[in-house]
Parts: sequence; C-alpha cells; structure tokens
Amino acid sequence: MSAITEKQVLEALKNVMEPDLKKDLVSLNMIKDVCIEKGSDISLSVELTTPACPMKDHIRNACVTAIRKHLPEAGEITVNLLAKVTSNRSCGGHGEKTNPLPDVGNIITVGSGKGGVGKSTVAVNLAISLAMTGAKVGLIDADLYGPSIPTMFGLENKRPEVVNQTIMPIEKYGVKLMSIGFLIESDNPVIWRGPMASSAIRQFITGVDWGELDYLIVDLPPGTGDIQLTLVQLLPISGAVIVTTPQDVALTDVAKAVTMFRKVNVSLLGLIENMSYYLLPDGTKDYIFGKGGGEKFAKAQGIPLLGSIPIGSIIREGGDEGKPVVVDSPESEAANAIITSAGEVARQVSIRNAVACSHQP
Ligand SMILES: Nc1ncnc2c1ncn2[C@@H]1O[C@H](COP(=O)(O)OP(=O)(O)OP(=O)(O)O)[C@@H](O)[C@H]1O
Ligand SMILES: [Mg+2]
Repeated sequence: MSAITEKQVLEALKNVMEPDLKKDLVSLNMIKDVCIEKGSDISLSVELTTPACPMKDHIRNACVTAIRKHLPEAGEITVNLLAKVTSNRSCGGHGEKTNPLPDVGNIITVGSGKGGVGKSTVAVNLAISLAMTGAKVGLIDADLYGPSIPTMFGLENKRPEVVNQTIMPIEKYGVKLMSIGFLIESDNPVIWRGPMASSAIRQFITGVDWGELDYLIVDLPPGTGDIQLTLVQLLPISGAVIVTTPQDVALTDVAKAVTMFRKVNVSLLGLIENMSYYLLPDGTKDYIFGKGGGEKFAKAQGIPLLGSIPIGSIIREGGDEGKPVVVDSPESEAANAIITSAGEVARQVSIRNAVACSHQP
C-alpha cells in the first residue's frame, strides 16, 4: 500500500467547514504542520482564531472523521489545536481612527445602562476565563467613581510601579489590571469633573504599559456618560458586551446603552444575562426574576445572547474575597456559565474580524 501524502490529507480536510465562517479549514489556511509517519500515521495542527474557541472539540472531531472517511487506510490520527488570536487592526476595521494601542488585538467593553447588574463581576470573570485559555488579557476598570476591580482581585492596597513615567499594570490570575483604585486612597474619593474623568481614562490607555495583548476588557461604569464617550472616541473598540438582569426595568435601561453603542458605531457582540436563575439543590432552576427576559431582548435587538449566569452566593463571595468564581470554583455551574459566555464573546470577536478582513481589497 502506498504511503498517504500531505496532499491527500489536505484534500480530505477540505470537507471540514469552520462552523462560523462557513468555509473549509484548508481555504481558511487553518491547517498547519501536516506530518505523515510510517506511511499512515497522520498528525496535524489546526490554528484557531482564539484559544477560547467554543467549537474546538467539534473542529478536532470533524477533522478526524473526515480523514477516516476519505482515507480509510489512515492509522493513528493526532489533531493538535493552536491559536493565533485575530484582530481587525491590520485590515482597516478601525476606519480612520489612529490607534493609541497598536499592540492590543481586540478591545471589548462590558457595559449596561444600569448599575449593579453585575458588569464588573462579569468583566472580571470574563477576563480571567480568557486568560485561562492561554490568551494575553488586560482589564481596565473605567469606573472612576466606584472602582471595584481592586477588591474583586484581592488587591485593595496595591500600588503600581511607575517606570520612566509609565505605569506598570498589576498582574493577577494571568490578567494585567489597571484601576483608579490602585492610584487613590479608597477613603478619599475624588470628585471627578467631566474633563478630569476623561483625562484620567486617557492615562489608563496611553500612560500604562499594556504591552502585547490579545484582549483588553474595559469594565464600564453604569450609564451612558462622559467616560463611555471618551473611550469610544479614543479607542478602536472591537465590540461591546451588554450585561443585564432579566427584569423589565433593567432591560429598559439596557436598551439605552444599546442605542448609545449603535449611535457611535460600536459593534454589539451580544448580551449576557446575569442573575438569570437560582440553581436549586435538586438541580432545577428557579427563575426568580422571570424567565426569558434577556433572550427576548436580544432577539428584539438582533444581537446574540452570549450566556446566562445564575445568581448565587458563590459569585458574590468570590467578588468580595478577591477570588473570582472561575478561579475559586472552576467546576461550579456559575463558573461554567461564565466560561461558556467568554467562549461566545471570543467567538463573536473572531467572526467580526473575519468579516472585516474579508472586505479588504
Ligand atoms: N450572579 C450573581 N450572583 C450573586 N451575586 C452577584 C452576581 N452578579 C453580581 N453579584 C453581586 O452583585 C453586586 C453588584 O455586582 P457588580 O459590582 O459586578 O455590578 P456592577 O454592574 O458592576 O455595578 P456598578 O454599576 O456599581 O458598577 C456585587 O456584590 C456582586 O458580587
Ligand atoms: Mg461595576
């Protein structure tokens, strides 16, 4: 029997579609390092657009199935998964805007029209979830009035180093962090006037040594004010994640945030419904704030529902004690819901990058 060739393997893999981009893996240039040993043992790598790809097991299995089907003489098949996070930076996705952070691949804001719905909780756990997959991640606490990132990371009295007039971000759980809480005393609140707030936010962007990042998450303060607008004007934002709780009153406020992002042409990655349900000890879900509010809202706005996170003391305590739930109880239902949402966020970013780059001449 003649040895299997690389060309035959690639022919077989042309039958495997990338589920979101609807093209085959070979045309998308995602197949790397095809290697044939002993004439029939095949190994190859698939280069994904994000290490947080929720479809990675599906893609790996589809590769094996396609090879088995088209090359029944194949012996052992090994599919390795690699990831190179995409960005629309290089293909004009940011229009005319000059980019103050050229080494940051994707900037994602986490916001809501409403206070207290869990934006910071989601932003923190999202950032850590992405970092746990191997991505390089930063997190800006853009809430100058009520910074919560230092507490949520257990870094209340931490002060950043300053080298050559550049602030070094503080790093924990694999995430580079910056918050006004690292720069001022917590019992000495600063009264920020509009222009001061804007210039503080500018400092967080241009005055901090962020280095190379795949994802920079921005935890927004509640509402649709100066800080949000400064950020949108200053930064090439890849997309916005909207957080809500299921009640109608929260959703009314969230609609305002959606409208604001649309007005300033920021792409909406989707909605995360927080405090969706309470998980009872027998495993059933109690929808204490009503069922399906987020889903209905997402549908009406034409945006994806990225995830539904349960309400539970495990999440609140994690935040209060500086050990976010994805670090402290990674196997819990709550952590799983957040990790799934993080995969969906990364997936939406990848889809948008692919679309932006395919429109390049
Ligand atoms: N799913 C959840 N289950 C239980 N508690 C939660 C959950 N999500 C958030 N919380 C708690 O609710 C409170 C508010 O959350 P968080 O600070 O994340 O909201 P926020 O939207 O960022 O608020 P703000 O508008 O003040 O910035 C915190 O005490 C947090 O621990
Ligand atoms: Mg907050």
